Amino acid sequence: MKIAVLAGDGIGPEIVAEAVKVLNALGERFELSEAKVGGAAYDAHGHPLPPETLSLARESDAILFGAVGDWKYDALERRLRPEQAILGLRRELGLFANFRPAILYPQLADASTLKPEVVSGLDILIVRELNGDVYFGQPRGLREVEDGPFKGAREGFDTMRYSEPEVRRIGRVAFEAARQRQRRVTSVDKSNVLETSQLWREVMIEVSKDYPDVELSHMYVDNAAMQLVRAPKSFDVVVTGNLFGDILSDQASMLTGSIGMLPSASLNDRKQGLYEPSHGSAPDIAGKGLANPLATILSAAMMLRYSFGRNDLAGRIEAAVERVLADGLRTADIAEAGKASVGTREMGDAVVAALRG
Ligand code: NAI
Ligand code: MG
Repeated sequence: MKIAVLAGDGIGPEIVAEAVKVLNALGERFELSEAKVGGAAYDAHGHPLPPETLSLARESDAILFGAVGDWKYDALERRLRPEQAILGLRRELGLFANFRPAILYPQLADASTLKPEVVSGLDILIVRELNGDVYFGQPRGLREVEDGPFKGAREGFDTMRYSEPEVRRIGRVAFEAARQRQRRVTSVDKSNVLETSQLWREVMIEVSKDYPDVELSHMYVDNAAMQLVRAPKSFDVVVTGNLFGDILSDQASMLTGSIGMLPSASLNDRKQGLYEPSHGSAPDIAGKGLANPLATILSAAMMLRYSFGRNDLAGRIEAAVERVLADGLRTADIAEAGKASVGTREMGDAVVAALRG
């Protein structure tokens, strides 16, 4: 099991260190290799995704990723900004399927922004397409408006596009995932307005014919945003495009209290995967030992499940996290106001202790 460890910037190194500690406590043989990524790589090598980092990622079965980004790189031209590293890895490795579970741990029921009856027992999986859509569509750029009342003014433009095979492969991934769950898929689009979405919906219906045991429904993205806060438990698997998925998965994360609890996986068709917390590099708390490492630890569990087929090891980590939460341990982001909290390292140590105990 060859794992590339790319810690990145901000809280990245702090939280990844805890996940590595947890992996090493499982008593299995992992081959871990570290490389720089993001702002840290720019500082050292002049590029956020240097060739040596990319080739290490390519040669590994899985990548454990922290986070990239810091305000201090905001003035750099776009191709050199830290965030380009994660976009580059997704593109170069063909990581087209992003899994973002939103689970409300019963021990954290008070942390949600919603009423307990609306969210208790919440367990949804957002499957976001990651390689297409308006994020990568060409042409894009800046030009001059050609006519109309704004003729001569500058305009920015992007292209939203999806091809049939791209929709089909993310559709299959979502239906397969639903088979391991409650067998319900909600496909989210904007087919009342967008051509891309009309094709998306057509292809999802076609894919669903191969999965008669899974129920498919469709929802417009604006309604989905509303239903996610009104009745989030009505969803099982949500499948959607890159842009809608970006927004809906962040929204769903808040149902569970803290983004510091949410793992993610990005997979290609070879089951090679990049595993990272759903949050960013949190420069506001970096270096203070305050960050919640659980999203990264749970991402390592997803890695064992999806890239290595080791449900047993993933389950052990998840059970250890639940135990630690049941024992009342909280980092600041999930602590009740006025209650004591622990730091990043104490939380990691507690998960290791729970694994061994
Ligand atoms: P963020 O997720 O880094 O932080 C948002 C808020 O959540 C902050 O108040 C932060 O302190 C808190 N937070 C995040 N993770 C936490 C954790 N583990 N424990 C406790 N609190 C936590 O998002 P923000 O502030 O929008 O972006 C900061 C930087 O991260 C930017 O440079 C952004 O581009 C980058 N970013 C990188 C991502 C990646 O590497 N995949 C994803 C999202 C943002
Ligand atoms: Mg986002």
